[in-house]
Amino acid sequence: MDRVFFSESDISAIRERSNILEIVSDYVSLKKSGRNYKGLCPFHSEKTPSFMVNEEKQIFHCFGCGEGGDIFTFLMKIKGLSFPEAVDELAKRYGIRLSEPSVKKKREFAKKELLLELNHIASEYFYTLLHSSKGKDGWNYLIRRGINKDIIEEYRLGYSLDQWDGLVKYLNEKKLPMDLAVEVGLVIPKKKEGWYDTFRNRIIFPIFDIHNRVIGFGGRLIKEGEPKYINSPESIVYHKGETLYGLQVAKRFISEKDFAVIVEGYFDLLTLHQFGIKNSVATLGTALTSQHIRILKRYTDSLYTVFDADEAGLKASLRCLPLFLEEDVTAKIITLPKGDDPDTFLRKGNREGFEKLITNAFPMIDFFFEILEKRFDLRTIEGKVKMAKEAIAMLNKIPDRIKKGLYIKALADKIEIQESILHEIVQSPPKKGNDDLNKMVIKRVFPKSEEMLIQLLIHNPQYIPILSKYAVLDQFQSIALKSIGKDMEKQYLKKGRLELSEILISIDEDMRAILSKLAFEDFQLEKEHAEKLLRDCIRKIMEEKIKKDKIELLKKIKEAEKRGGGRVLEGLLKERQELTLREKALLEIT
Ligand code: UTP
Ligand code: MN
Repeated sequence: MDRVFFSESDISAIRERSNILEIVSDYVSLKKSGRNYKGLCPFHSEKTPSFMVNEEKQIFHCFGCGEGGDIFTFLMKIKGLSFPEAVDELAKRYGIRLSEPSVKKKREFAKKELLLELNHIASEYFYTLLHSSKGKDGWNYLIRRGINKDIIEEYRLGYSLDQWDGLVKYLNEKKLPMDLAVEVGLVIPKKKEGWYDTFRNRIIFPIFDIHNRVIGFGGRLIKEGEPKYINSPESIVYHKGETLYGLQVAKRFISEKDFAVIVEGYFDLLTLHQFGIKNSVATLGTALTSQHIRILKRYTDSLYTVFDADEAGLKASLRCLPLFLEEDVTAKIITLPKGDDPDTFLRKGNREGFEKLITNAFPMIDFFFEILEKRFDLRTIEGKVKMAKEAIAMLNKIPDRIKKGLYIKALADKIEIQESILHEIVQSPPKKGNDDLNKMVIKRVFPKSEEMLIQLLIHNPQYIPILSKYAVLDQFQSIALKSIGKDMEKQYLKKGRLELSEILISIDEDMRAILSKLAFEDFQLEKEHAEKLLRDCIRKIMEEKIKKDKIELLKKIKEAEKRGGGRVLEGLLKERQELTLREKALLEIT
């Protein structure tokens, strides 16, 4: 905010003339390392260098402690300067004359300072009240909700009296400008004259910016009633779409853990922090914005959102997906049991449970795919085409081409069509009712072992019980073949024989085409060859499935290890043992 004192051109003149290498070298001995320079971090103690400077981009970053920034932030940090002081120092060093700020800018700056000062005074007023005998009701409410003293301190929680003029009187006594108090929404003008307090009989949550300045407030009624929460209005110091509650505390934990948890409520945030999950922030009664995401991106590329397991939660989470994709961050969903929010969930003693939910958080894009899969019938061509269109409309938002390519590949596998077809759609999205696409989709590819196994069963249905015994069909990758196999299995187990014609008329046109093609293809085997093929196919299918599960599991284990292990890791390691057992069992089959 101090930046209003400097013109953009002054700042860019400094950027052009200065060199971060020079400045950093005053404090750190740097060595060239690839495209970067490397040295021992001046912001934390270390023995091996993890502090990097990039000359081309004029930035620095420490992979040890997470500090990073440009030439201005480096100077501010290392010398404890304010932004204006850093600008001054650099201007002097590089001989740049700063232009005088305009009167308008000076005024605007002064006004912002006043508003912040006012907020600060009000915040201290609420804080003091909470700790006084007049704040007993508020204090008891917080205790009842399990909020501890450290949190009350750290977040400067407060209380507002159950009367109309508590703050009004206080500000008047101090002769503070009431029109400015109106502007930040602390008091409201009466119809005729005078003002009344905005926040009455409420717990007060001061909202801080990352420099720890109070920019607004939230207030929760301590009894039943409406509205449950009141929030400061937008003002020149408070922009909800750019503010995250708790970020002033969470930022260093987010860098450290390399992911952030985003929740929706004040109490959710406080409880998470109280339970030690400090890399969390909350939105403030508004939807998540791109601006929020961009702010969090300064600290991590991994964002976890928490949602209710209900329909509304689901919709809300998917609304965020395009934003996450556009900003190129990895988004995961933490789903809480129905009816719980993070606060209630943790208060039930579910600290470990929450950690587990974090470890098992589901990538939002996969979640999106799953929803599409449920919505469209993927056994039909029409369903596939619809899914492809919707999925690609979403995937097109991903700016990173490699990433986009990977998702397209996943999508192709999922709906069993050739990847190249999807790429064609990406390049020129199909117009409505495009028949060519329907035709293209027919050309599909199945895992060979699954296709052969189905074919084998068509001709040797007596093997079907063996399949059931090992639940082989559940391990199929192909949805279509799985569905066909299940129909065959059902019929055989019920009737003791396989009537292909019966199945053929009971299934969808699309499935029918596949089944009949398989049935008609040349397929004759001696008995012993058939048995060998059966074993080979089953083994191959199970191996593939184990391989896939293993990759998933290893990914989870890695993530858990990154987060310091704990019970979650133990659970995962147990799962790995089970996987090993499954591998052994596989040997038995064959
Ligand atoms: P919730 O209604 O889920 O409340 O609103 P909560 O956070 O669980 O609060 P408790 O536990 O009942 O005290 C979630 C968030 O939406 C905003 C607030 O930021 C709240 O924390 N909200 C809610 C409002 O701004 N106004 C309201 O009237 C209600
Ligand atoms: Mn709640």
